[in-house]
Amino acid sequence: MRPPWPPRTAVGGRCHGSELGHPPFNARRRPRTTSKPRDTFDTHATGAVNALVEVKCPVGRHVRFRSDGVRQLLGKTYSGLTNRLPPDLAGRIDLFRPSLRDSWGGPLNGQMRRREIVRDLARRAQFDQVIETGTYRGTSTEFLSAVFGAPVTSIEANPRLFSYCSRRLAAWPDITVEFGDSRAILRRVADGASAKSESVFAYLDAHWEEDLPLSKELEIIASGWSRAVAMIDDFQVPGDDGYAFDDYGPRKALTADYLPIASLSGWSILYPLAASQEETGARRGCCVLASPEMSRVVQVPSLRFDSTL
Ligand SMILES: C[S@@+](CC[C@H](N)C(=O)[O-])C[C@H]1O[C@@H](n2cnc3c(N)ncnc32)[C@H](O)[C@@H]1O
Repeated sequence: MRPPWPPRTAVGGRCHGSELGHPPFNARRRPRTTSKPRDTFDTHATGAVNALVEVKCPVGRHVRFRSDGVRQLLGKTYSGLTNRLPPDLAGRIDLFRPSLRDSWGGPLNGQMRRREIVRDLARRAQFDQVIETGTYRGTSTEFLSAVFGAPVTSIEANPRLFSYCSRRLAAWPDITVEFGDSRAILRRVADGASAKSESVFAYLDAHWEEDLPLSKELEIIASGWSRAVAMIDDFQVPGDDGYAFDDYGPRKALTADYLPIASLSGWSILYPLAASQEETGARRGCCVLASPEMSRVVQVPSLRFDSTL
């Protein structure tokens, strides 16, 4: 039986559904609040395809219609053809579609304020390594590498996306794309010889379907690094409903209640200082968690301290 789709989310998933063998987007439940622009083939169609189409009907009248149908047809055809291919090959073919490079309006969901937070943190501390869970198309991976100037490990579990990203990012010497489950690979990296003495910035964004690895990811980070800062995408910002967040069902909403408190004792939790109206792009919420040793590092102008866990 096909797994339930879409994920139960307050804000809509952000999957590139039909191209990855999932049901098409029109099969998805409508989100309750704002959602990220869907990174579908149709939203990235060329100007020519987007244009209004005008045809002359047999009785001589000109009929104009929006070309959404054309775009959907192209998207379905592309998906239909490439979904039959081995994921590795499909990922290679995806590389020929430049529109896929800037998913969701650019790095970090096209959110300028969010990028400001990351830049602030990078200015405040030189992190030894950066980890991203959920590479997707590698758009944010490039940004993280450029901003932190540190080795970046990005983890992707979808074979087609891994195929795409590992090639797309091959020219970036400091980026390693790892294929597999974020928990397993995080564990391996955390067990690495130098992890204990290093500082890490983790961008946690492997929220996708039923399986939610976030809590385990946090436990692994907290036990693996004493100097760690984690930014969680799609997280509820208390007091600001304009920031969207993910909700995958009972005890799976990305809110402060979801956090594995026992592992994060003494950690600080902070939220964006900017109100959602000042944010651009998809306006997804986030939180930043800092281990006790990093509590000063996260004292940056773009974040507001909330509490110590
Ligand atoms: C929301 S997208 C990531 C977006 C990306 N970080 C960006 O900013 O463009 C989530 C990604 O996580 C991947 N993913 C889901 N569960 C995963 C897991 N357990 N381990 C690794 N990747 C996972 C999905 O295949 C998907 O590509």
